[in-house]
Amino acid sequence: MTDRKATLSVGDKSIELPVYSGTVGPDVIDVRGLVQQGVFTYDPGFVSTAACESAITYIDGDKGVLLHRGYPIEQLADHSDYLEVCYLLLKGELPTAADNKQFHETIKKHTMLHDQMRNFFNGFRRDAHPMAIMCGVVGALSAFYHDQMDVTDPKQRDITAHRLIAKMPTIAAWCYKYSKGEPFMYPRNDMSYAENFLQMMFGTPCEDYKPNPILAKAMDKIFILHADHEQNASTSTVRLAGSSGANPYACIASGIAALWGPAHGGANEAVLDMLAEIGDEANIDTFIAKAKDKDDPFRLMGFGHRVYKNFDPRAKVMAETAHEVLSELGLENDPLLRIAQRLEQIALEDEYFVQRKLYPNVDFYSGLILKAIGIPTSMFTVIFAMSRTIGWFSHWNEMVSGDYRIGRPRQLYTGFPARDYPKG
Ligand code: SDX
Repeated sequence: MTDRKATLSVGDKSIELPVYSGTVGPDVIDVRGLVQQGVFTYDPGFVSTAACESAITYIDGDKGVLLHRGYPIEQLADHSDYLEVCYLLLKGELPTAADNKQFHETIKKHTMLHDQMRNFFNGFRRDAHPMAIMCGVVGALSAFYHDQMDVTDPKQRDITAHRLIAKMPTIAAWCYKYSKGEPFMYPRNDMSYAENFLQMMFGTPCEDYKPNPILAKAMDKIFILHADHEQNASTSTVRLAGSSGANPYACIASGIAALWGPAHGGANEAVLDMLAEIGDEANIDTFIAKAKDKDDPFRLMGFGHRVYKNFDPRAKVMAETAHEVLSELGLENDPLLRIAQRLEQIALEDEYFVQRKLYPNVDFYSGLILKAIGIPTSMFTVIFAMSRTIGWFSHWNEMVSGDYRIGRPRQLYTGFPARDYPKG
């Protein structure tokens, strides 16, 4: 552990607290002993709070660094594929060629859904938001595998990981097909993970669907860039749900729910809605003024980040992919892309954004790629959830395979002190 101490003076008390160092990144002060001293720390939004120890992902917000098990995201985006990144996040090391082949084969064997799961889709209105459907269907998986959810059994955790990685694209694509009133497409074992997702999204039983390899590669890159991101809001939700011993499907469903918010994973959908609302480059200045106006709730969606106070390394890769996809599809003059590029240029020059270090984040360009591929904005966060499932599961697995306690934050109480019920 450590012999390093921080000293905290509270009133006439001087409290010594242990200090720990990680491999890289800020030291932490262990404040667990404060409760015995009759005080709590106060950190709404967890701006300065490390809620756990983890070895999965490291972010340096000032340097724009994102590492998965030590490997930079740029290198993984360039050289790896999503399933290999899943293996890395889950197991801690890149797979050997043989293990990688075996892992790809294993995932293929779990891509189908239990046929009765179709009934869950039919219970929704056709115009239901696909995130509502995904949240419900993923939670319902716990009703189909209830005999294999012993969180203390590594083998059962492994099979659950394989099922979730494999079934999320099928669930996501079926959410889309259901909204269109088109027949569900079954997964195919002769396609890669990304190709399979595209064929389940855009294929029909009437003819063979051949995924465009450029678009499939772009999808796989989007999956990699969204796979994990340290203790973000949805991952912290999954950890907190898991700390009570809840089953993994219920925990992943809680992560989907948290991701849905526009301040988090819902931002990619909100970016496209914002670009459409701006509509023309002539209107940009009006919206920039709104974004700066404290009395106006409007924010420039796709900009800013709690941790990145420099560029988001994922946004840079995403911007390159956006250009590849749009030129492949002959859309490089897409008016929304032009508005996005103008917004980015203004945000990088305007004092309000520069001073607050509000750079484009991962959501700023991803929506343009997905829209160009023909995916409706309502499906953007569904794709984010599908990609992030491996991050959620890896953090859940890291927690439940070690020592953990139920998460139970305290509070600063500002309500009424004790008072008697009025007599009479
Ligand atoms: C994701 O945590 C993760 O890692 C998340 C994520 C992941 O992979 O899991 O990276 C994915 O969620 C990316 C973020 C997507 N969200 C958006 O694009 C929505 C727009 N961004 C903002 O809502 C905001 O920037 C947050 C939510 C991302 C960050 O919020 P913070 O850290 O609480 O920052 P803040 O709200 O305190 O803002 C600091 C200042 C404020 O101004 P002042 O009070 O200091 O004067 O910056 C301003 C804010 O008003 N500000 C913005 C702004 N974001 C912050 N002003 C205009 N437009 C914005 N987008």
